[in-house]
Amino acid sequence: MANDIYLTGITTTGTPHIGNYVGAIRPGIAASKDSGKTNYYFLADYHALAKSENPDKIARSTLEIAAAWMALGLDTEHATFYRQSDIPEIPQLMWTLTSMTAKGLMNRAHSYKASVQANVEGGSKDPDKGISMALYSYPILMAADILMFKATRVPVGRDQKQHVEMARDIAQRFNHHYGDVLVLPEPVIDDNTAVLSGLDGRKMSKSYNNTIPVFEPEKRLRKLIMKIKTNSLEPGEPKEIEGSTLFEIYRAFASEAETLAIAKRYAEGIAWGEMKQLLFEYVNDHIAPARKEYDRLIANPGAVEAELKKGAARAREVSVPYLDEIRRAVGIRPLG
Ligand code: TRP
Repeated sequence: MANDIYLTGITTTGTPHIGNYVGAIRPGIAASKDSGKTNYYFLADYHALAKSENPDKIARSTLEIAAAWMALGLDTEHATFYRQSDIPEIPQLMWTLTSMTAKGLMNRAHSYKASVQANVEGGSKDPDKGISMALYSYPILMAADILMFKATRVPVGRDQKQHVEMARDIAQRFNHHYGDVLVLPEPVIDDNTAVLSGLDGRKMSKSYNNTIPVFEPEKRLRKLIMKIKTNSLEPGEPKEIEGSTLFEIYRAFASEAETLAIAKRYAEGIAWGEMKQLLFEYVNDHIAPARKEYDRLIANPGAVEAELKKGAARAREVSVPYLDEIRRAVGIRPLG
């Protein structure tokens, strides 16, 4: 719909890798250039607290992720780009929503249940061992992120779908009680955006420690690509493109015609060493111009900070009056 509002957040607990790039950053940047769309992108640094107690890691990740989006060409004139913690209305809305959220709903969250199960399977006497209230309430903070900006469409990975549905449930319950105040969001799962495999062939993920960071210096990038797992077929032996991580990554960057040409080279038995060199050159050529800008931004955190502050000011033009409206609806209002 033309007046759909798109919103998505990135938790600041790691260095952006090429899986994030092709799966989230690249489509997000393309959408930011479409002036017909309203987009909010933000750095979920309060969410990061639920996952990491390392302050330097969170601060560094916030800088790296922001710099990556900026260097890769996010159009911050069209898209509103901000840091969650710069919007004090979000945690205020979270508390309001917490009052409206059934504890039983949170008990059903997959991520919480997985942590409990890990404790039970690990033989712990306490099923809630190591589980913080932040982890438990994580979906309510996420609901506040979404509802604060009246988002209708929330692009997320499959693992986050339930959280968006919970935001919808919470909003529905709120509206049922207080009147039509909140807008019901819907998850958007794009099955066409590539999910990349990592160095070891499993899904590229910081939790598997098998990632290729987008902005590795050229030498390190080459080294990492040389490490990608292949089978033991010799040069000259025909190779399958199916299940080849090298091919998958190439395809995520290259045009259709180039991809077809490489598929032909596979059938002809291209050597793995040559394919790795070719992939390195392709990815490196693609990334190199943005890498320069990324390095410049990392060395100038003040420029990144200024951009985020600008985004926050714009976001707050929405969140400040809207939170006021929500508070009045629940009975927090001036007395005279
Ligand atoms: N929880 C999401 C993740 O880990 C990040 C996130 C936080 C988010 N708030 C959001 C995504 C709101 C979409 C909308 O991937």
